[in-house]
Amino acid sequence: MADKLTPVLSANWGTENSWKIAPYKKSGGYKALAKALKMTPDEVTGVVKDAGLRGRGGAGFPTGMKWSFVPKDNPNPKYLVVNGDESEPGTCKDMPLLLASPHTLIEGMIIASYAINCHTAFVYIRGEVLHVHRRVQAAVAEAYQAGYLGKNILGSGFDLDIIVHAGAGAYICGEETALLDSLEGRRGQPRLRPPFPAVAGLYASPTVINNVESISSVPSIINHGPAWFTSMGTEKSAGFTLYSLSGHVKNPGQFEAPLGITLRELLELAGGIRDGHELKFWTPGGSSTPILTPEHLDVPLDYEGMAGAGTMLGTKALQIFDETTSVVRTTLRWAEFYKHESCGKCTPCREGNWWMVQMLRAFEAGQAAEGDVDKLLDVASNIGGKSFCALADGAVACVTSAIRHFRSEFEAGYKTPAWELFPYERSALFEVPAQAVKEGVHA
Ligand SMILES: Cc1cc2nc3c(=O)[nH]c(=O)nc-3n(C[C@H](O)[C@H](O)[C@H](O)COP(=O)(O)O)c2cc1C
Ligand code: SF4
Repeated sequence: MADKLTPVLSANWGTENSWKIAPYKKSGGYKALAKALKMTPDEVTGVVKDAGLRGRGGAGFPTGMKWSFVPKDNPNPKYLVVNGDESEPGTCKDMPLLLASPHTLIEGMIIASYAINCHTAFVYIRGEVLHVHRRVQAAVAEAYQAGYLGKNILGSGFDLDIIVHAGAGAYICGEETALLDSLEGRRGQPRLRPPFPAVAGLYASPTVINNVESISSVPSIINHGPAWFTSMGTEKSAGFTLYSLSGHVKNPGQFEAPLGITLRELLELAGGIRDGHELKFWTPGGSSTPILTPEHLDVPLDYEGMAGAGTMLGTKALQIFDETTSVVRTTLRWAEFYKHESCGKCTPCREGNWWMVQMLRAFEAGQAAEGDVDKLLDVASNIGGKSFCALADGAVACVTSAIRHFRSEFEAGYKTPAWELFPYERSALFEVPAQAVKEGVHA
């Protein structure tokens, strides 16, 4: 099974001081930059396009195509903004990547900036992860010192500055236009589109926004070429990616593998479900992607495979839940997150998420009224597709998919508390203190 892994982004994670510039260069770092600077910007974009790299931030939009949308005749400065806000429940790939190898991102940023004619690029990092912020800042300082940033990079005549910016810990600031508002110093709320950021983004100038993993994938593509990249993955979902497994698995963590691998294969790599238990449900890409069940163990984990199963690949954050887990409780916890993170700009999301939480709390307590499952679906139908941004669709997806697969568990919530059907100390990954069990960990 181990030959299923394709460590590229994670290849140097085990190296001593992998985050420092010297070990990074020793493992071949910054060679792609030298190569790219000898190409024309259009050639660089062409290589990324031919490789078929798709955005790793969730939606899977082709990266090279996004770069080519930047209008060349627009006199304003062009900006590259890297989205490192990573805040969705279950999602944990960009932070480990930045912590272990920030220079992979920096090298990718310089190449991407060269391709789109950008001279000031930004990394927007989730505010709570101060250690990651500090590590990226230190790596940027090293890159300046080594002549990879600043004026006349490697004698090419190309100039670039990178600014590392800390967010203030709001999930909505991962939405690309809210991120731009936040970066400009305003309250982070999504913008109306059009105009799209490629035309009028940061400071109303042409802007490319890409995920950390997308940009970090660029140096290896420049080094090895599109044919190498497309030799991995599937026809429409090329290359390798970071899958994050968490929850009831023996060895949770990052698994870098070709797109199209299945959960069955990933579980084998992760040592399987914890002893004596079996898979009940899972998310393919964070809490905003509709949940799946054991019936989907062999569906390819790529954009097409997941769409065919009625869900999305999202951030490839596979949260694994065994049979001890209450679907109702899990859905409630996710709903509480979305209610808290709703930016409040539009009514269906702001009010609807609040109502969904109230109803789910009643289901959890065994105090829902007969027929409330349909009422919950009705509330959800007034949020999804009727709100301003995709946060609301994600909030609804976990609720509706949970009801689709486990309706009877919700109906049990008309009479029986979820904690009686699924005592929480059984699903807990860490020992629950006896006092907490006595007092009711659900409280
Ligand atoms: C509520 C919400 C949160 C998001 N959070 C992130 C995030 O933390 N990181 C990210 O890269 N994309 C996030 N996205 C997606 C971005 O809007 C955008 O599609 C992405 O950064 C584009 O990069 P890519 O093309 O490289 O995937 C989020 C979207 C929404 C609706
Ligand atoms: S859908 Fe929610 S998060 Fe998005 S703009 Fe509306 S209130 Fe804000």
